[in-house]
Amino acid sequence: MRSSSWRLKGFLFVIGTILVFIGALPSSGEERLLVSRFIKGELPVHDPNSPLWKESKPYPVLLSAQVVSKPRIYKTAARKVTVRSLNNGGEIAFLIEWEDPSNSAGVLRHQEYRDAIALQFPVDPRKTPYFAMGEKDRMVNIWQWKADWETDLLGFKDIEERYPGMASDSYPFSQAKPGQVLPAPQHDRTFLTAWGSGNPLSTPNRPSPVEDLNAGGFGSLTSQPDKQQNVAGRGVWSGGKWKVVMARKMASPDSGDVQFKAGAVIPIAFAVWDGANGERGGEKAVSGWHYLGIETPKKMAFRPVPKPVTFPRPPVPAAYKGMKNPLPLTLENIEEGRKLYDNNCSFCHGGNLDGKGPEADAFLPSPAAFTDKKSIAGGKLSEDFVFWRIKEGGRALPEKHTPWHSAMPAWKEELTDEEIWKIVMYLYEFVGVPKR
Ligand code: HEC
Repeated sequence: MRSSSWRLKGFLFVIGTILVFIGALPSSGEERLLVSRFIKGELPVHDPNSPLWKESKPYPVLLSAQVVSKPRIYKTAARKVTVRSLNNGGEIAFLIEWEDPSNSAGVLRHQEYRDAIALQFPVDPRKTPYFAMGEKDRMVNIWQWKADWETDLLGFKDIEERYPGMASDSYPFSQAKPGQVLPAPQHDRTFLTAWGSGNPLSTPNRPSPVEDLNAGGFGSLTSQPDKQQNVAGRGVWSGGKWKVVMARKMASPDSGDVQFKAGAVIPIAFAVWDGANGERGGEKAVSGWHYLGIETPKKMAFRPVPKPVTFPRPPVPAAYKGMKNPLPLTLENIEEGRKLYDNNCSFCHGGNLDGKGPEADAFLPSPAAFTDKKSIAGGKLSEDFVFWRIKEGGRALPEKHTPWHSAMPAWKEELTDEEIWKIVMYLYEFVGVPKR
């Protein structure tokens, strides 16, 4: 009996190992670790096709449409990127690859948008902020590689490129002969005002296709000053695929920059824009937080990646405790709650409230399943708790519940209290639970 049960366990272990190896099992918290492999010598900072990249294990990252904040997008082209990382103790480099059948690298007309990819890190890795653009007191450092900036490195492109016959003013003090259009770098900066005032979008002589940025919440994205732009990059498109390298010195003197300490495990997140699909700004594909483990020359084991804490649930804060739905239970209110839920929540929590919405995959912890016995369907959640969680989102969870890394948005910025109560009513009615 005993030996056969051990044989069965051994067999299951082997099957399990094979499944994990080929990626057939859902990934747990521990597996969300991208390892930056240590190698000796120069990193392939400008070469996405270098054989050295094979030293690093490809790490898949699932993406979701950005449905958290306006302007939202409901269908993005990219659903996955594959990432590798190498470091040599002094520099760190990332190779990101993704499918994109259309190459949007020359975007000079205003109806054209660029392809782009961004990496995001908390400036202070001990304080992981909300995954979308960070928070006021928890800034993020963002590196955005832009396909059109890459094109500009081969020779700055201006509007004349797309509209060769267009009329063009001659600027005073320029060296141009009448009728001749000089390339932008040969002009006096004083008369190209956007460039003159330091707008990185209009600079004709950028050293890198990567912009080094900081953000602390939606709408706060800011480019670092010229002399602090210290991220190198190189992107190539071939056969329907982008391969982009971004690299930096591991240590940086800038207070807005993330520091990469050998042996550390720090959060990392990703975003992709497909220009041909009209994606720009907040309309992009995003991932939740993952972890980056920075290998040292010595063989090492990383401390386990923190698991998302979902239970026990935190207590309802005093300001919300005891709240009851103030709205009368009517068909109209339930119906309005359904509409609001479908337009704001179903992408993550699913049309059937089972937590399996079309955009749920990129997030860990996963969006809650209200049909679960441990949730509303089991009579486990009181109305005041549900109202609080919807209004304040993942960011309001108490510190001791970290590392939450919850993607749950704070809806107080987009919905009125009355709208939130209508959704609460719909959730309880849908799962058929009278206990509130
Ligand atoms: C971007 C994806 C996303 C969207 C959109 C979203 N949520 Fe969530 N939500 C989550 C995740 C992830 C969790 C689990 C982590 C947590 O509890 O914060 C969650 C948790 C919750 C919880 C707590 C459940 C529990 O068991 O403790 C409630 C209630 C909730 N969401 C309601 C909503 C409602 C209502 C909306 C729409 C107004 C919404 N969510 C929109 C991702 C999302």
